[in-house]
Amino acid sequence: MSRRPTSSTQAIPEVGDVPRHLAMIMDGNGRWAKKRFLPRVAGHKRGLETVRAMVKACISRKIDFLTLFAFSSENWRRPVEEVSFLMGLFVTALQGEIGKLHANGVRLKVVGDLSAFEPRLLALIREGEALTSGNTKLTLTICANYGGRWDVLQAMNQLALAHPERVGHFGEADLAPHLAMAHAPEPDLFVRTGGEQRISNFLLWQLAYSELYFTDILWPDFDAAALDAAIASYRERERRFGRTSDQLTAVPPAPIFSNSVSTSGNA
Ligand code: IPE
Ligand code: IPE
Ligand code: MG
Repeated sequence: MSRRPTSSTQAIPEVGDVPRHLAMIMDGNGRWAKKRFLPRVAGHKRGLETVRAMVKACISRKIDFLTLFAFSSENWRRPVEEVSFLMGLFVTALQGEIGKLHANGVRLKVVGDLSAFEPRLLALIREGEALTSGNTKLTLTICANYGGRWDVLQAMNQLALAHPERVGHFGEADLAPHLAMAHAPEPDLFVRTGGEQRISNFLLWQLAYSELYFTDILWPDFDAAALDAAIASYRERERRFGRTSDQLTAVPPAPIFSNSVSTSGNA
């Protein structure tokens, strides 16, 4: 199988029984905590356990890419205490998990507008990425201060700056290498927990042909069995990429040989 990311609008991607790339919006932490009369941040803390479980589950299901939406470009609008708790949790998680991720063959990537992060967090991200860059079991991408619109715009600006003479003539293939997820194929399956049925400015470009799956399960309660239910739903989908159903099920025509043409009636 080709390792080169394919654009679903330029070529028809290979489709397997298990998604090669799973992208998830981890939603419902606050409500999980509220139901238990705990502060919202307790839900975020607990949500980290689901992240660990998903990494493990993806490795054992031979999913190559897991992408998690951890903090959106709009999440800065939350109360300052919650934002700083989330930043602190990110630091703690990196400190505690990088060694384990590396030992398990996971390559870590963090994408988004990282310029907003404090130097200590930025250094940990860079260290973690460098340490794990050669790993091949699973690519875990954390989207932090990420927004789909930010992504398309930053890619477009990079491209225009690199090739000012070609502005007005760019195609998809020119833009693709500048997008934040250039290291991965497009997601096959998108899962959002927590009951909301929206994209919330996640991978707007990359989700063009992804299968969408929404569940009411809150992120801290999501587990391997819930993931298997999502994959089972994915398997039932007919991924047409613009073609008709008949085109997908059509049996390729049998080869016609000139000496097998019927001569009946000519004897
Ligand atoms: C998702 O859970 C985590 C982040 C956005 C960081 P929420 O915090 O959005 O949980 P709910 O939606 O309020 O329950
Ligand atoms: C999306 O969740 C962002 C993350 C999970 C990081 P939100 O909970 O912030 O989304 P909205 O605001 O309800 O759409
Ligand atoms: Mg939410």
